[in-house]
Amino acid sequence: MKYYIVTYGCQMNVHESEKLASICEKMGYELAEKREDADLIVFNTCAIREGAEDRVFGNVGALKKLKKQRPDMIIAVCGCSTQKESTANYIMKTFPFVDIVIGTFNLPNFEHYVNAVKTGRQLELLSEGEIDEVQTYKRTSGENAWVNIMYGCNNFCTYCIVPYVRGREKSRNEENILNEIREVLAEGKYKKITLLGQNVNSYGKDLTPQVSFAKLMKDICALEGDFKLTFMTSHPKDLTDDVIEVIAKEEKILKEIHLPAQSGNNRILTLMNRRYTREKYLEIIDKIHTQIPDCKITSDFIVGFPTETEEEFMDTMKLVEEVKYDGIFAFMYSPREGTVASKMEGQIPQKIKQERVNKLLALEKKIQKEKK
Ligand code: 5AD
Ligand code: SF4
Repeated sequence: MKYYIVTYGCQMNVHESEKLASICEKMGYELAEKREDADLIVFNTCAIREGAEDRVFGNVGALKKLKKQRPDMIIAVCGCSTQKESTANYIMKTFPFVDIVIGTFNLPNFEHYVNAVKTGRQLELLSEGEIDEVQTYKRTSGENAWVNIMYGCNNFCTYCIVPYVRGREKSRNEENILNEIREVLAEGKYKKITLLGQNVNSYGKDLTPQVSFAKLMKDICALEGDFKLTFMTSHPKDLTDDVIEVIAKEEKILKEIHLPAQSGNNRILTLMNRRYTREKYLEIIDKIHTQIPDCKITSDFIVGFPTETEEEFMDTMKLVEEVKYDGIFAFMYSPREGTVASKMEGQIPQKIKQERVNKLLALEKKIQKEKK
C-alpha cells in the first residue's frame, strides 16, 4: 500500500505534511513515487489567495479518471482551504470521488478518517482543540528541521484568512519544544532548526508563566550541538528589542529576518489593521541594521488593497527603494470570503493590481541587480 501527499502553501503546511507522512507510514503505507501509484492521496491545501485554491480544485478534479480506474484508491483533502465550511461542502459536492474532507484541526486524527472510509465518505471540521504535543514527523527538508512553536494567529489583519482557519494563538510548552529539538539534534543529520509560527514574536504570551520568544531562542542556543537557528514569521508590531538583541548576540542564530511590511502607506496599513506605521517600521529596520549590521531582511507586500490609490502604492515603492531588502514577495490583493477587507468598498480592478505588482517586481529586480 502506498501514499502520496500533495502540499500547497507555506512552510507550516510543508511541516504538517511531514506529520501526515508519519501517520501514513505508521499505518503501513509506503511513499509512492508518483500519485498514479498511490492507494492513498492526500491534498494538503492553502487558502491564502484565490490562485492557491483554484490550483487545488483543478488538481483534485484531475483525479476523477484515476479513481474510476481504481475505485479502491482513497482521496483525502485537508488543510486551510477545507477548514472553511463553504469550501469543504463545495468539494464534497463537486468531487463525489473524494473520500475524506477534513480541516486543519482534524489532522492529528487522520488515521481515524482513513479507517472510517470503509463505512462511507468522511466530512468533519473540528473547531479549535487542544494542541497536539505528541508529534512525530517524517522530516523531508534535508539538513533543515522545521519545529513548530505555536499555532494560530490573533492579529486579524483585515485581508487575511489565517485567523479563521487556524484559530487563536496557542503556544507549545517550552520544555516540549526543547525536547523535540534535543531529539532532532541527537539524530545527527540536521544542521539547521527553523522555528515556525504565524507570528513567532508573540510566542509564549498565552503560557503560564509566560515565556518570551527571546528566552526560547536563548534556551535553544544553549543546547549542545553544531547547528544554526532561524525562524518565521515575524510581525513588526511584536518584534521587541530583546529579540533583536538575542539575534545579534547568539552565534547560532542566522542573521536573517523576514519582516513583512505589507504596505508603505499609513492609511492602508491602518485599513489592513497592521498596528504599526511606516515610520515605526523604518525605526525597527534601523535598529536591526545598527545592532546586526550583516542582517538580511526580507518582506512581503500586498498591492491593490481596497481603495489603494496610485500615490499610496508609490509609498510602497518608495519604502522598498529605501530599505533595499535582500528579497521581497509581492502579491496582488486577493479577497478572501469572510474577511473584513473582502467586504470593503473600492475593490481595485485586476488590471491595476497586475500593473502595480509588475512595477514592484521590476523595482525588486533592479535592487537585487544593484546589490550584486
Ligand atoms: N491577498 C494577497 N496576499 C495575501 N497575503 C495574505 N493574505 C493575502 C490576501 N488576501 C500575503 C501576505 C502575507 C503572505 C504570506 O501572503 O503578504 O505576508
Ligand atoms: Fe495573517 Fe496578519 Fe496573522 Fe500574518 S499576522 S497570519 S498576515 S492575520
